[in-house]
Amino acid sequence: MKEIDIQAMTPAHLPQVAELSVATEQVKFVGTMEEILVNIDDTVHPHVIMDSDTVVGFFLIDTQYGHKYDFARSESLGLRAFFIDHRHQGKGYAKRAVRALKAFLVSAYPDFDQIYLTVNCKNPSARHCYVQGGFTDTHELYLGGAAGPQHIMHMTL
Ligand SMILES: CC(C)(COP(=O)(O)OP(=O)(O)OC[C@H]1O[C@@H](n2cnc3c(N)ncnc32)[C@H](O)[C@@H]1OP(=O)(O)O)[C@@H](O)C(=O)NCCC(=O)NCCS
Repeated sequence: MKEIDIQAMTPAHLPQVAELSVATEQVKFVGTMEEILVNIDDTVHPHVIMDSDTVVGFFLIDTQYGHKYDFARSESLGLRAFFIDHRHQGKGYAKRAVRALKAFLVSAYPDFDQIYLTVNCKNPSARHCYVQGGFTDTHELYLGGAAGPQHIMHMTL
């Protein structure tokens, strides 16, 4: 099985990132690429999941997550808008990317020791990937999402 690589997104990735999308029925879980990209600022950082020179997936790391959500400790990262492009789903990329996330974050964000995410209760395949990659379900629900209740998950870094 081929290795994947997680990288901070640079302008060189933009042409490929602009072409990324999920299936129509998955848009409610992450939004469109256009909607995701407007969230980026100096505290919310875009990342790409690479297979060689091909961008196969994307996610945001939110460094203010712990200050935005009551359920997260104040010095926590947040994983947001994690997805694999529809053309590359079902090939094990998400599983490998989540498994690689901890080592990447420990190196890239040494000041943080926790990461949180929320995943829609109607999205069991994504929850399964996160569990496989080392996230733990807190067994609390976040009810503030537009598409219904979400499991709150976390991982110690
Ligand atoms: C969820 C998502 C990231 C999975 O990506 P992927 O690369 O296709 O997943 P993988 O190929 O790595 O599969 C990982 C595991 O999930 C399972 N899985 C993946 N998609 C599945 C589906 N649609 N239905 C059931 N199981 C699924 C696989 O069987 C595998 O489990 P296994 O190792 O026990 O066999 C992808 O479907 C996606 O981007 N969805 C839309 C965006 C989204 O929902 N993001 C999460 C927001 S919190």
